[in-house]
Amino acid sequence: MNNKVFITTAIDYTNDVIHAGHAYEKILADSIARYYRALLGKDKVLFTTGTDEHGTTSEKAAKEKGVDPLTHVTNISQANKKEIDSLNISYDRFIRTTDKDHEKIAAEFFAASFANDDIYKAKYEGFYCEGCESHKTLSELNEAGQCPNHPTREIQKLDEDNFFFKWSKYEDFLKELITTNKLLILPEGKRSEMLAFLDSGLNDITVSRPKYKVSWGITTPNDPDQVIYVWFDALINYYTEGSQKGFWNDETRIIHFVGKDIARWHTLLWPAMLKSVGCKLPDVVYVHGFLNLEGQKISKSLGNVIRPSELVKEYGVDTTRYYLLKYGPMGEDADLYREHLKEVYNGELANGLGNSVSRVAKMAERSGLEFPVAKSQKTKPDPELFEPIKDFRVDLVLQNIWKKLAELDKHINDNEPWSITDKKKLEKVLSFEVSQVREVGRQIEPFLPETAEKIREQFEQPAVKAGEALFPRIK
Ligand code: MSP
Repeated sequence: MNNKVFITTAIDYTNDVIHAGHAYEKILADSIARYYRALLGKDKVLFTTGTDEHGTTSEKAAKEKGVDPLTHVTNISQANKKEIDSLNISYDRFIRTTDKDHEKIAAEFFAASFANDDIYKAKYEGFYCEGCESHKTLSELNEAGQCPNHPTREIQKLDEDNFFFKWSKYEDFLKELITTNKLLILPEGKRSEMLAFLDSGLNDITVSRPKYKVSWGITTPNDPDQVIYVWFDALINYYTEGSQKGFWNDETRIIHFVGKDIARWHTLLWPAMLKSVGCKLPDVVYVHGFLNLEGQKISKSLGNVIRPSELVKEYGVDTTRYYLLKYGPMGEDADLYREHLKEVYNGELANGLGNSVSRVAKMAERSGLEFPVAKSQKTKPDPELFEPIKDFRVDLVLQNIWKKLAELDKHINDNEPWSITDKKKLEKVLSFEVSQVREVGRQIEPFLPETAEKIREQFEQPAVKAGEALFPRIK
């Protein structure tokens, strides 16, 4: 029985500062972490995010800027942290793969897998895509001989001595793990995709690079001239924090949130690595799609990169969170269209939520009545509203809460509290409406924490105080 939960996001590369696309995963994971904290208590939840700082792209970006790698990755990591903070992400640790504890634990992990006879030295001859930080077979390249995900980057041809991990040994183990849902891969389509990949067979994978090629990494414990391959290093970040905080054990449900481009590493390589060293395996990998902007991929070369903090500045933190959680790439890819965002803002936030809260607040204040805060009022997530969260469908939870808001609005219109002259009747009608707003305020906390706080300030005492509009209409 798990009574603790460990939630993670992928850790972002430090070749450049994150963009709005990266924001989606952080907000999604954050809302799940906040939900579990409300359900289980703060000390039962651990939530991490961070930066993946080693490897060729970071090393090259530093060189281009004429600074040493550590200075470069520190700058980007700090900038990323600011971006993430602008989204009100409640991580317990922002982990960096250059953190000393991680470097030590990653090297120990490598040594343990080596000691278990799962790592051996051999020659690698083949391709490498620096954009993916990944070795490629000829069949994975497009007709022009480039990586389909990074067609503008030159593909590297490698011929070098590496350490290899015996990935092929774990094929049957992985098949059993996934078909029995001991490792739950969501959504279902991604699970089938991973199983299909497994069916095509696994080859052993290189897990180090020679220092004369890449010097920016963690030195392997077995050979001072090799560094640990950046993916092997990065995946261990979860274990670094989880194991030190007592969240890497059978008591804990481990949930990884990742994008579709890195599902394979998390569902197939990571469990095999953990099995190799005899550690607990993750329970769930949730795979989301990609966020595009106005119908286009977000990319530097297209010049449409927008930072999370820019969205926050323009629309506010909770609007950004709401829009992405409700209309973001939950499973399939999705687009952020500014026109749509404005429509959603006016329709669902200014009108739907803001207007109902403000109507009740004003009428309650004007009535001069007191509305004691009932002890029995729900402080935990309502199981009925949150039913879709079992599949992490936060968009559907929001839909449920907004249905409740529509009911409240109907109640106001049907009862017309502004025209009630009988004090007793008015008290009854408003008491119900105030209790509904209080409940909605509590239920939206995982998604819109700032707005929940504003509602609390107006409603969490017997004398309700109307405040400023939560979401003033925009043109
Ligand atoms: N460093 C690796 C992850 C290592 S985790 C042990 C990496 N970094 S990344 O910066 O390229 O991507 C970080 C996360 O952001 C990934 O889950 C990726 O799928 C996600 N996204 C990157 N661009 C995205 C969009 N446009 N939309 C949604 N998610 C996106 O991969």
